[in-house]
Amino acid sequence: MKGRERILTRTPSGSASTPRLRIRWPRGLSERRFLAEHWQRKPLVVRGALPGFRDCLPRRSLRALARREDVESRLVWHRGSRYRVAHGPQRDADLARLSTVDATLLVQGVDRQVPAVHALLEAFSFVPRARRDDLMVSDAAPGGGVGPHVDSYDVFLFQARGRRLWRIAREFDPELDEDAPLRLLRRFEPEEEFMLEPGDFLYLPPGVAHDGIALDDCATWSVGFRAPSARELAAGWCAWLEDSIQEDLLYADPGLALQRSASWLSDDYVRTAARLIHPLAFDRRRFERFVGCHLTEPRDGVVFDAPRRPLGPEALAARAAQRGLALATASALLWRTNTAFMNGEAVDLPPAAMPLVARLGDRRRLGASDSARALRNRSLGPALHDWYLAGYLAPA
Ligand code: SIN
Ligand code: CO
Repeated sequence: MKGRERILTRTPSGSASTPRLRIRWPRGLSERRFLAEHWQRKPLVVRGALPGFRDCLPRRSLRALARREDVESRLVWHRGSRYRVAHGPQRDADLARLSTVDATLLVQGVDRQVPAVHALLEAFSFVPRARRDDLMVSDAAPGGGVGPHVDSYDVFLFQARGRRLWRIAREFDPELDEDAPLRLLRRFEPEEEFMLEPGDFLYLPPGVAHDGIALDDCATWSVGFRAPSARELAAGWCAWLEDSIQEDLLYADPGLALQRSASWLSDDYVRTAARLIHPLAFDRRRFERFVGCHLTEPRDGVVFDAPRRPLGPEALAARAAQRGLALATASALLWRTNTAFMNGEAVDLPPAAMPLVARLGDRRRLGASDSARALRNRSLGPALHDWYLAGYLAPA
């Protein structure tokens, strides 16, 4: 179950000592085979998937996030099949349910708050960043869960702590329970069950019904992938075009001809109107730019912390040459041919700069020597300094 976020971000991403995590695939599977055989197709359980994973989010940290107004959270509890939900910011009285009843606390957008979780996300970066939505973390008391439901997301449900029983069905009755405060299925007959232990994950493509019940105090980290709807893209594209049109461009008809019928919608009118919006005609290059900006656009409420006493370009280069550069926790960076898309802004750069941009986007940091090289680059250097001034990145 996913939602929209409102996030404030402060901390820079990761630390130099964050270990790199890689998925340990079972024999016969690999990233490539997973994409060919499972991605968007069929569920998969991988046991002991992330050797070296350390749970960096103790229960109290998750609760602290859930108390915040700028972080989206839900507390869900149930008696039998009757579910209740409290939306955040959570109050202590509600959070206390986690120790008394079958309850679960879900916090969205944890990746925009906690730099250390990027180590886990990096392990899933065999799926392109453009597809990733967020990391949602749930913390449940025994018996807790959000009930049987279907998501329109691909999701890796990673078991970080405790055990959870997942019951799934690919064929199911889609009727929803009208009385439930969440989009829950009225009837649910599981086809398969998997008991996940710490370190295991369950991958689910969109449209597979699932119900996860905590067997112990348990934490599940859901790495969710977004699939924008055609409507969402169309709405974004139209807004983008609207913004690109000159506001005072008006319909004008100086040589207006006398019409025989005043109610006739003339060819002249339609032609002039069409000419007026001609700049909106679909243009592939412009669309590429829109997609990059749209996908990296900060979520509502995200605020980047600009440095209080900013370093000039030289001082930044000197500092970065010692420690490297790191993206801010909530920064999103994608790139295409000659363009970097940073937090909804497009910057055109020469081809020689792009490998460094790619490295920064993929790893969320640049090492000391790469940073020095990047800051020396005549085009990338000023762009990096601008991003630093905006709080999009900082010396590591
Ligand atoms: C999900 O079903 O999408 C995740 C719910 C959870 O972590 O409890
Ligand atoms: Co779900």
